Amino acid sequence: MSEPEVPNLDAPRHVAIIMDGNGRWAAARGLPRAEGHRRGVEALRRTVRAAGELGVRYLTIFSFSAENWSRPAAEISELMGLLRRFIRHDLAELHGNNVRVRVIGERESLDPEIRKLITEAEELTKANNGLTLVIAFNYGSRQEIARAAQRMAAEAVAGRLQASDVSAEKLASFLDAPDVPDPDLIIRTSGEQRLSNFLLWQAAYSELVFLPIYWPEFDRAALENAILEFHRRERRFGGLVARTGS
Ligand code: IPE
Ligand code: IPE
Ligand code: MG
Repeated sequence: MSEPEVPNLDAPRHVAIIMDGNGRWAAARGLPRAEGHRRGVEALRRTVRAAGELGVRYLTIFSFSAENWSRPAAEISELMGLLRRFIRHDLAELHGNNVRVRVIGERESLDPEIRKLITEAEELTKANNGLTLVIAFNYGSRQEIARAAQRMAAEAVAGRLQASDVSAEKLASFLDAPDVPDPDLIIRTSGEQRLSNFLLWQAAYSELVFLPIYWPEFDRAALENAILEFHRRERRFGGLVARTGS
């Protein structure tokens, strides 16, 4: 008799999420897109809590892409307002829960008030050693890789780097959060099956799970299902020895 399959919920070390489908969630209910974004923030709160409880060490969330600036001004200001409120209202609780907040993406062109909030969140939580929450904000992966190349070029010009020093490891060390390990699992909600310029470099060997639910519907059960699917995959990293899960 075969043993019943024991669900494996061992948490991947790093889970990254493309939180997609807020607008369609709202449209399906005859609500304005903004309501979808507000409900999306609630899903984010649930997810941070669930990830911490399940033992995930790093959670990266795609909250605003470098390409999202092409949306109508009213929607952009709604999304900026939500980030501002998320940091203002949730920071104390995140800090209380030992969460370390990091932000990746281009900062220079952001509103100074948002930049200040980001710096404060990172400063306040930098010594925390619970879940690391990486917020990808004004983030595009090609832009991040270009920034890394620019930083390397500056080092070369200053005489601190030779062309022959450039390797994959070296380039990775110039990315926005070089100490954060690559994601083991990338989840995208909404049914779309693409990366939309998210973590292209870091996703080299990530398992991709696409869920047919809209982001405002995401909860602990959805995260658990994605983790179960992750453990069904066989990660090989180019070799022959099967390594299941993380
Ligand atoms: C995700 O939901 C939130 C952001 C991209 C900021 P969308 O706003 O993309 O919702 P859909 O994809 O239009 O449904
Ligand atoms: C990706 O979703 C960006 C975020 C989730 C923040 P989009 O909705 O912007 O992606 P596309 O346009 O469908 O590729
Ligand atoms: Mg979308």
